[in-house]
Amino acid sequence: MKNIVILISGRGSNMEALIAARDKGELPVNIAAVISNKADAKGLETAAKAGIATRVLEHKAFASREAFDTALLALIDEFAPDLVVLAGFMRILTPDFVRHYEGRMFNIHPSLLPAFPGLHTHQRALAEGVRIHGCTVHFVTAELDHGPVVIQAAVPVLADDDEDRLAARVLQEEHRIYPQAVRWFAEDRLHLVDGRVQVSGAAADFTRLISPT
Ligand code: GAR
Repeated sequence: MKNIVILISGRGSNMEALIAARDKGELPVNIAAVISNKADAKGLETAAKAGIATRVLEHKAFASREAFDTALLALIDEFAPDLVVLAGFMRILTPDFVRHYEGRMFNIHPSLLPAFPGLHTHQRALAEGVRIHGCTVHFVTAELDHGPVVIQAAVPVLADDDEDRLAARVLQEEHRIYPQAVRWFAEDRLHLVDGRVQVSGAAADFTRLISPT
């Protein structure tokens, strides 16, 4: 069974969705550790309650981004992960760190990339008046919120939406697609071809990418 390490900075609801999928027998991975760059991340409690090893490495304790990333890499590698899963890990990563985990690090982002990389994605989607918004799981590359797309889910933007309502609708989809993406990885079904991801296997997996609500 593949080992994964999950990195968080806060609430950890995507992490929770991965734990829930594992507990239901839908995600055949060993969650070796949850690591946070913030000691007060709520997700740490959730992970500990689920019996998962937790670690805190506070970026504030390091003089530079490079020094933090070097220490983080060493900490992650103690758990020998096959896949590193960024789940609301709000840090810009150094090129060396990204290179080390090339092809074995996922991120989830609350927009239909390449639209709206960076912060405040829901607010920006509303300001632009887009009719469809969503979320993306992608392999991490050196460019922030870019990299080969593994899976996306779309939701409608409704006339009376505010940021919170739209964020909640997107988050529901995040919780659905992240376990799916990690499952594909665990099943060795993802192949990077010319910088794009191909998924081998059942076409049925793709039928629910667009949320009906
Ligand atoms: C999620 O919406 C995730 O997509 C986003 O942070 C939130 C974390 O929530 N990530 C990014 O914006 C990364 N660029 P969670 O801690 O409850 O999973």
